[in-house]
Amino acid sequence: MATPETTPDRYAVAGNPVAHSRSPLIHALFAQQTRQAVDYSRLLCPLDAFKATVLDFAAHGAQGCNVTVPFKFEAFELATHRTARADLAQAANVLRFDAESGWLADNTDGIGLVRDLTVNAGVPLMGQRVLLLGAGGASAGVMGPLIEAGPREIVIANRTLEKAQAIVDRHAQWAAQHGVALSARGLQTPGEAYDVFINGTAASLSGGGVPVGPEVLKPGCLALDMMYGPAAQAFLDWARSHGAMARDGLGMLVEQAAESFHIWRGVMPDTAPVLAHMRALVDQAQP
Ligand code: ATR
Repeated sequence: MATPETTPDRYAVAGNPVAHSRSPLIHALFAQQTRQAVDYSRLLCPLDAFKATVLDFAAHGAQGCNVTVPFKFEAFELATHRTARADLAQAANVLRFDAESGWLADNTDGIGLVRDLTVNAGVPLMGQRVLLLGAGGASAGVMGPLIEAGPREIVIANRTLEKAQAIVDRHAQWAAQHGVALSARGLQTPGEAYDVFINGTAASLSGGGVPVGPEVLKPGCLALDMMYGPAAQAFLDWARSHGAMARDGLGMLVEQAAESFHIWRGVMPDTAPVLAHMRALVDQAQP
């Protein structure tokens, strides 16, 4: 492992696109805070060459990478070892290039979300009713740790019911072990008065508004969009106008990054000052 006096160890966020990624700044702040010699960059991977690009990065001495859209499923396949939470998600957002034992794949999105909800927002999940909207990679990635946090019930609602049902089926045993009632619903009947509402869909991006009615919100509940910046604005406005506490995905982003940093460096950064820094930057960039 490098020390501050030696050549930094190299990491990157691999994806397409990656130019917008805030991960290099977040990891630079973690490295500065923990006095770790880390050089974290962006790795743009051609859509048909994720594997070749990441193998080349590792061959040139890199230690690991984060993985973002659309390569989280490929990253999972590429590894020799996978954590239980990556197995449940069938997707990875972290790779660690272990030379002797082979590459490790993990998924820190779910633990990042749970920490942001329970620690940063101070909203308990234990015993609560949770609605998760969407059944794409974002929702699949967080379901395992969400179940582990012990809510009474999780409903996953999606435009395409079969996709929500597939996530429920894959997590059925995990949910039973943790005493969580897990079910899938369509968007016409999402249920009502949830304590926590999490938007894992890309609906805000298409400008179509929130695809369920405000009856899903219990007064004063927490409504979180996994996106941040302009992409989350419509959801946040909708949630506030219906009496919910609204939260974007910036805290989740910082928390998943901290867990990745810990996997690579064995040191857990203090996320509070980094989240405050990132919040100021994102607020400044808002129109
Ligand atoms: P990701 O991997 O980032 O989650 P994805 O796999 O494309 O992205 O999934 C996007 C999710 O948003 C899906 O659940 C999608 O619904 P379908 O499974 O029915 O395709 C959901 N989604 C996207 N646009 C939507 C919209 N306008 N209304 C409702 N749901 C939408």
